[in-house]
Amino acid sequence: MSGSPFAAKPTLIGPKVSLRPFRTEDLEPMAAALADPEVLRLTGSIHSSADGSPWPQIDDRMRSWYGSRNDQPDRLDLAIVDNATGRCVGEVVLNEWEPANEACNFRILIGPDGRGRGLGTEATKLILRYAFTTLGLHRVGLEVFAFNPRAQRVYEKAGFKVEGVKRDALKFDDQRVDSIVMSALSPEWTEVA
Ligand SMILES: CC(C)(COP(=O)(O)OP(=O)(O)OC[C@H]1O[C@@H](n2cnc3c(N)ncnc32)[C@H](O)[C@@H]1OP(=O)(O)O)[C@@H](O)C(=O)NCCC(=O)NCCS
Repeated sequence: MSGSPFAAKPTLIGPKVSLRPFRTEDLEPMAAALADPEVLRLTGSIHSSADGSPWPQIDDRMRSWYGSRNDQPDRLDLAIVDNATGRCVGEVVLNEWEPANEACNFRILIGPDGRGRGLGTEATKLILRYAFTTLGLHRVGLEVFAFNPRAQRVYEKAGFKVEGVKRDALKFDDQRVDSIVMSALSPEWTEVA
């Protein structure tokens, strides 16, 4: 057992979503989410609308990835479960932990079945509260592409602020897309209902 606070894999329960450690049954909905063209484009996983998914099927690599998330001492990967169905719709991740700076990175993805119903907003708020109040982090950072105003809106609602722009960070088809850098800091974070 590591002394890392990230070694603990909690279950965080909200009204609409629960965040919990991955289970075998999550592989199929995660595979569907990771194959979704919108997820691929908005997460920067592909560079052309003609590209296929880097995770085209449930194979040994995917089984090994999701089968080992609960053993990672330096990052936290949790399934987002829709409380209405009990089914996994996506994931939240706290990674790139910098212990000396009490900082980490955040990312989230939700497949088509889970989007646009407030689940992403609630999941982001739940994990941010955990990062500040349980993990004791000072800073949680993220990047979001300029062609993803929905995610920006969700992050702002949860307490992230824009701190800069990486210009032309992504090439998608023939378009150059900025990456917006955002962060939430513990001292200025107040829980938003
Ligand atoms: C980004 C994501 C996590 C958001 O989760 P979600 O459950 O779909 O979002 P919610 O329903 O909680 O909230 C969406 C908010 O954005 C708003 N919104 C939707 N489309 C928008 C747009 N084009 N411009 C601005 N705001 C928009 C909604 O109105 C809502 O805000 P409101 O509650 O104030 O009305 C999810 O859509 C997702 O995973 N998308 C695909 C992958 C992705 O983008 N990951 C993030 C990469 S940085």
